[in-house]
Amino acid sequence: MTETTVPPGVPAPAEFVHAARLALSRTPEGVDPWFHQYNGELLDDRRLRTWVRAKRQLFDLIGGVRDKVVVDAGSGFGMVSNLVGCWGARHVCAVEVHTPMAESHARVNAAWFPFLVGRVFGLRGDASHLPIRNASTDVVLSIEAISHYYDVDAFLAECARVLRPGGHVVISDGNNGANSRIRATTLELWRRFELGPEGPFGDHVIPEPMVSRRERVLRQSFPQLDAGRVAALARVTSGMDRAQIVAAVTSHLAGGPAPTQAYVPGTCPREPEWGYVLEQLFDGRDLAARLERLGFDARALPHFGGAVNDVVHAANLVLRRLPTHRWARAYRVVARRR
Ligand SMILES: C[S@@+](CC[C@H](N)C(=O)[O-])C[C@H]1O[C@@H](n2cnc3c(N)ncnc32)[C@H](O)[C@@H]1O
Repeated sequence: MTETTVPPGVPAPAEFVHAARLALSRTPEGVDPWFHQYNGELLDDRRLRTWVRAKRQLFDLIGGVRDKVVVDAGSGFGMVSNLVGCWGARHVCAVEVHTPMAESHARVNAAWFPFLVGRVFGLRGDASHLPIRNASTDVVLSIEAISHYYDVDAFLAECARVLRPGGHVVISDGNNGANSRIRATTLELWRRFELGPEGPFGDHVIPEPMVSRRERVLRQSFPQLDAGRVAALARVTSGMDRAQIVAAVTSHLAGGPAPTQAYVPGTCPREPEWGYVLEQLFDGRDLAARLERLGFDARALPHFGGAVNDVVHAANLVLRRLPTHRWARAYRVVARRR
């Protein structure tokens, strides 16, 4: 690791920067290609600096992560979990529902983060049923992930279950439902996620639309159906996951009623294969209120950025104290278990 030079102003340990860059430039076989799109910014000095500073500012809200037991709920490819491990967390449990991402994290860590063995554990699991013992955890993180959970109430209840008294939940997300401009753009984004077309839309790239994914599920499960029937059934099974689609269509083919769940504009689409939703909107104040009811002292913070430089950070600290949720581009929720 001695040859690593950490770019100026990046508050990350050299071992993290070195290993993350190796993982991106000499990626182990079998890692999902999306790993590069998702974490490619870590190869660029300026964007790496912003990425790390954003995490540092977030964890500063709870006094850092050193020596803490952390659960990263919706950990994706696990780079935040690895950074938390490098910042001295005692254990990090990275929980990810999407198998290709969880497996990619394991492959990347085996190849380039061997020094985290025994400290960062990747698990395939669901934030709504955390594979974690009661009152065993100091911090639950949900970084750009809560907008993808299908059952957010169950996740919040899980936070109450797994955290020790005094432990923290930290939620950070860009889908600020209190901001009417973000809300309007997101409604159109949802429509495109569901029906297409694929390709760029704002900051997003629309992947294969959900209706096409349901067609694939139907083709795999009911190879006897012709293409027209598959397309028609895919249109009326919107919002269902694989198990629900198979159950609804099996019952229909046995003489029961046809499914009737056509896409309703303004609803958040659901990925049928893995069951997650796409860019659900929340008002951070509402999430904080729900956590209060579950036994937390919670606060919602409007977020305007702040990791780019100290001036923006200072401006963010001022704006955060004002009732600015409706203009903020993101929100954070920090809650302490009573
Ligand atoms: C936008 S990514 C964020 C990943 C990571 N937290 C980060 O900041 O790099 C959201 C992740 O949440 C995962 N996810 C969605 N629903 C989930 C659930 N119920 N349980 C666990 N992970 C979930 C998705 O598969 C995806 O990898």
